[in-house]
Amino acid sequence: MSQSVHVRAFRDLLDSGGVVENPERIAAYTTDQRQLFTGSTFAVLKPATTQQVADVVRLAAHYGIGIVPQGGNTSYCGSATPDASGTQIVVSLERMDRIREVDPVSMSISVDAGAILKNIQDAAAAAGLLLPLSLGAEGSCRIGGNIGTNAGGLSVVRYGMTRDLLLGIETVLADGTVVSDMRKLRKNNTGYDVKQCFVGSEGTLGIVTGAVLRLAPLPTRRATAWLKLASGAPLAELLALVRRESADLLTAFEFMAARSIALATDAMTDPPSLGAGPAGAVLVEFASSSRHLDLDELMEAVLAEAIEAGWLDDALLAQSGSQRTAMWRLRETIPEGEKRRSGSVKHDISVPLSSIRRFLDLAGAQVRSYDANLELSVYGHVGDGNLHYNVLVPPNVDRLEFTKRIEGSLSLQLYDTAAALGGTFSAEHGVGRFKKHLLERYGDPGRIAAMRRIKTAFDPADIMNSGAVVRPLDETPGS
Ligand code: MLT
Ligand code: ZN
Repeated sequence: MSQSVHVRAFRDLLDSGGVVENPERIAAYTTDQRQLFTGSTFAVLKPATTQQVADVVRLAAHYGIGIVPQGGNTSYCGSATPDASGTQIVVSLERMDRIREVDPVSMSISVDAGAILKNIQDAAAAAGLLLPLSLGAEGSCRIGGNIGTNAGGLSVVRYGMTRDLLLGIETVLADGTVVSDMRKLRKNNTGYDVKQCFVGSEGTLGIVTGAVLRLAPLPTRRATAWLKLASGAPLAELLALVRRESADLLTAFEFMAARSIALATDAMTDPPSLGAGPAGAVLVEFASSSRHLDLDELMEAVLAEAIEAGWLDDALLAQSGSQRTAMWRLRETIPEGEKRRSGSVKHDISVPLSSIRRFLDLAGAQVRSYDANLELSVYGHVGDGNLHYNVLVPPNVDRLEFTKRIEGSLSLQLYDTAAALGGTFSAEHGVGRFKKHLLERYGDPGRIAAMRRIKTAFDPADIMNSGAVVRPLDETPGS
């Protein structure tokens, strides 16, 4: 049966805005966020309800058509991009963007999977609550994608990853079955935690259509400081001190090397002059919903201890909301700074906190011996053991060729080092299509076997995002 017949059948299920065939409009859905890969599709489907998603999936399953679920298309690992075959359809959740309910008493929010993260944060804030998931792409990423990749971001040290915020889920399985488990319960020990299967599944097990998320009290007070690290400053010990002495009021502990700060500064029209110490800088933030805690005083006392220990050359405490915002803008502009310069090859590694310093030393030596002229941009959520250890693309070099060369050589050395220290090649960006070979290389065989069994149990015909994350059981390696 031809693709035009299939499109007609999907059209019969959806309303006029529900099927996009125009190649110009389709283009935005077939290239990944980092513009490393362009796939192909014959149609983008935009269901508006869970029932429509179920109908679409059932029909696709009937015809044996592969489905690539897509939220904001902000994946760094190509997990929302169709392959080049032109046989997969993209199912975009962008029309399913409703906030279904905010429950201030249960401290939860129920949303469609296509809701933009920032809109969910705003809806929670309007009720005096915090959705404690915050990341650079929050203005365009959608919560279904955040669930699919188990997104991390800037406040994991206090609140955990997306996984930790998920109370309930609504999902369409690969045969069109709707799993409706939109509960607000903190406690529900009734067998397998099915919703957690979908966290990190990157659309390979089904399509998330709705979610219930845990909220926290909205902070009313914050203390934010920019720490200039002295030479040899021990990051893990500094973090331990800050956590302990703040009674774990820490909400962010973001490390930045001087080069990353300079890149962000170059990309800003009105950059704050914050700078770095010899070992870089750390943005530290405490937050509390209580009006009775003096966080500035607490921060000053904690930083005095760190200075006393010889770990800081200087520390600047934000004196106003605008100073705080400027500190965060500098941190959050680093990815844009890399992009404006000429791009970077990203390594989203994490290692146990006790091995952060060792990783930095070993990886630095590896980069220097690979090519002493390479420049690095190193920053990240060190509070979670997560570093963005990015190799800058040299100016006037083809970005894609350079990326391919580095990913086939130096990247593997860096990942080997992270793995040898008990770490991982993907801390918060996922696996998708781009890192599937890394999962095969570094994943525990037993764990991969379990993942393949789960994939096969949920999606025996391999319809859901085929080619991403993991192969089902009956496929041969490399396929
Ligand atoms: C960040 O922490 O800024 C992102 O995860 C990394 C990136 O955007 O490259
Ligand atoms: Zn990050």
